[in-house]
Amino acid sequence: MKLGTPLSPAAVKVMLLGSGELGKEVVLELQRLGVETIAVDRYANAPAHQVAHRSHVIDMTDAKALRALVEQERPHFLVPEIEALATDELVRIEADGLCTVIPTARAAHITMNRERIRVLAAEELKLPTSPYAFASSLEELQVAAARIGFPCFVKPVMSSSGKGQSRLKSAEDVAGAWEKALSAGRVREARVILEGEIQFDFEITQLTVRAADGTHFCEPIGHVQKDGDYVESWQPQAMSEASRKKSRDMAAAVTGALGGLGIFGVELFVKGDEVWFSEVSPRPHDTGLVTLVSQQLSEFALHARAILGLPVNVEMASPGASAVIYGGVEAGAMTFDGVDQALKIPGSELRLFGKPQSFVKRRMGVALARGASTDEARTLAKRAAGAVKPKPV
Ligand SMILES: Nc1ncnc2c1ncn2[C@@H]1O[C@H](COP(=O)(O)OP(=O)(O)OP(=O)(O)O)[C@@H](O)[C@H]1O
Ligand SMILES: [Mg+2]
Repeated sequence: MKLGTPLSPAAVKVMLLGSGELGKEVVLELQRLGVETIAVDRYANAPAHQVAHRSHVIDMTDAKALRALVEQERPHFLVPEIEALATDELVRIEADGLCTVIPTARAAHITMNRERIRVLAAEELKLPTSPYAFASSLEELQVAAARIGFPCFVKPVMSSSGKGQSRLKSAEDVAGAWEKALSAGRVREARVILEGEIQFDFEITQLTVRAADGTHFCEPIGHVQKDGDYVESWQPQAMSEASRKKSRDMAAAVTGALGGLGIFGVELFVKGDEVWFSEVSPRPHDTGLVTLVSQQLSEFALHARAILGLPVNVEMASPGASAVIYGGVEAGAMTFDGVDQALKIPGSELRLFGKPQSFVKRRMGVALARGASTDEARTLAKRAAGAVKPKPV
């Protein structure tokens, strides 16, 4: 791979679709290699907009707008950072040879829809998953719930970050879950997945890098989810040799089926030696923010290197942890008190994402910490996160 000079005819150009905090770190890594970066999001001044060479605001679910921007910028690589994209158009862009879609247009298309990725993983690859059914009406959902039983989860087939998701305890919860899924789904299509609950000991993200020289596995990341959103993560998650091997085998199977180059976050449930596949992101994973302190190369650096066909190194640097900092209020620009207190904590670091607007449950930053053990790192990361006090201006 030959790298070039940004803003010259010799530039290697990468366009990010989605410019959140994960995209911001990817852009920073690409910048370090002299890559020209173009950040796209649906609103102005998104985190990655603030560090890229150029930025654009478009509706990325609008196929025409997406196509027009790609034709205008002519990037070499198109790198999705979010799920909600006109993935049919990505498939056409790739087929027309306009640019390389990371990891592949097909991977983005399959993983944006829970039905497509579940059918691939469970029915084609035969990976163990929760029992599941799909429904397009309340009546179908009632039948599915009666068959699979409770507790179970209902999720729109197209949604992320826990949006429109419910945990159902009994038949009384079905109608409410159907309504919630309909109101929060990304598209008008009324389609949900119902999943039986897996009673796991813990859940992990198995970061998996498909690089030019083959597939590499990071140490497992443990995490805690609240309402479908991650609040805390750590690396490494201790697990049995058998479950660790199964996790890597399952990650190899699903990322192999999706293909292409880049990092993937494979979400797995673990109980003793048993492992179930949950879902996969063909891009950096939010729980992987911990790798900014726990690995020699963060998941963002690994993604940048893999995309460019460069060698990767998935070695850890130290046990580490991350703890999310929420906005806590609905407001515009924010100030952050207590940063000095947070950074006095040994082994701690902060990322404040620079989002122009705060919501109660919007992730505005993350505290990171190294420690002698993950327990120590978790304690320090949570203390650092707690020290930061976001306030409306
Ligand atoms: N079948 C299940 N059994 C047990 N727990 C589940 C199940 N489905 C979801 N969960 C819990 O809910 C969390 C969020 O589910 P899921 O990852 O499917 O949602 P999401 O909207 O894609 O979230 P994100 O985009 O943050 O990954 C899981 O990490 C897990 O903690
Ligand atoms: Mg998930």
